[in-house]
Amino acid sequence: MAKILSGKDLAQTMREEMKTELAELKEKHNLVPTLAVVLVGDDPASLSYVKGKEKACAEVGIEVRKFKFEADYAEGSLLKLIAELNTDPDVNGILVQLPLPDQINEEKVLYAIDPEKDVDGFHPINVGRLMIGAPGYVPGTPHGIQKMLSRNNIEISGKHVVIVGRSNIVGKPLALLLIQKNKEANATVTICHTGTKNIGEITKLADILVVAAGRPHTVNAGMVKPGAVVIDVGVNRVEDATKKSGFRLIGDVEFDEVSEKASAISPVPGGVGPMTITMLLHNVIRAAKKQSGIKD
Ligand code: GUN
Repeated sequence: MAKILSGKDLAQTMREEMKTELAELKEKHNLVPTLAVVLVGDDPASLSYVKGKEKACAEVGIEVRKFKFEADYAEGSLLKLIAELNTDPDVNGILVQLPLPDQINEEKVLYAIDPEKDVDGFHPINVGRLMIGAPGYVPGTPHGIQKMLSRNNIEISGKHVVIVGRSNIVGKPLALLLIQKNKEANATVTICHTGTKNIGEITKLADILVVAAGRPHTVNAGMVKPGAVVIDVGVNRVEDATKKSGFRLIGDVEFDEVSEKASAISPVPGGVGPMTITMLLHNVIRAAKKQSGIKD
């Protein structure tokens, strides 16, 4: 049976560390990092993610300014709000929850955020910084996966990491992060996607297999090398009449059979999800310190 990589426990540990750092920042510098959260519409998953982020911020001592709008909110109004938040010295980070309704051009909105307040790491400037290995803001999910590996003493350097999924928020930035030349990276990375032929032959080569396809049952035991480390990024809602909410969450990996074969595996829920939020908190703290001239 594989070791269970609990993102929930690690996130708790890291948030305790942040709490201590934030108490010190407040005492020494009278600094309370502030995150602006913008939510348009009422997509149930987005509402739930935003709630989780607000709760986590409150827990460590980050102030949240929430801006919630109806689904028909105009693109121009959103761009105006972002321009105001960009110049507001009391706002350190700006997060616009995705997806946005159809009338709003997501790219335009993400490009409008000041890269120094882009705590999601989605602005092309930060994507470019990640590409060349320069300091910047790294998206929470890939960063959280890297920390989940390193803080569980799983060597990344020299390993073959296979990533299933090429999204701009997980697959691509994770590949960029793990090929960098440093001790928490230095991996050989392969990305599989919907155009990949014989995907199971490639996933079987992985020392570390990261599955971010957004589709349940994407990876079964036959696609995994014995002893591999498996990180499941999937968050899929499936109907479950026994639950009060009417659904439960499952990942992209067949957990029961793969956990018999892997040396370590992250569960869903309680795996990557809490790590994603933790790294968002990390980015907000860094942004606040940088904007106040306080060294990391
Ligand atoms: N929607 C799904 N994941 C994310 C995320 O990490 N950040 C934002 N802003 N929206 C998302």
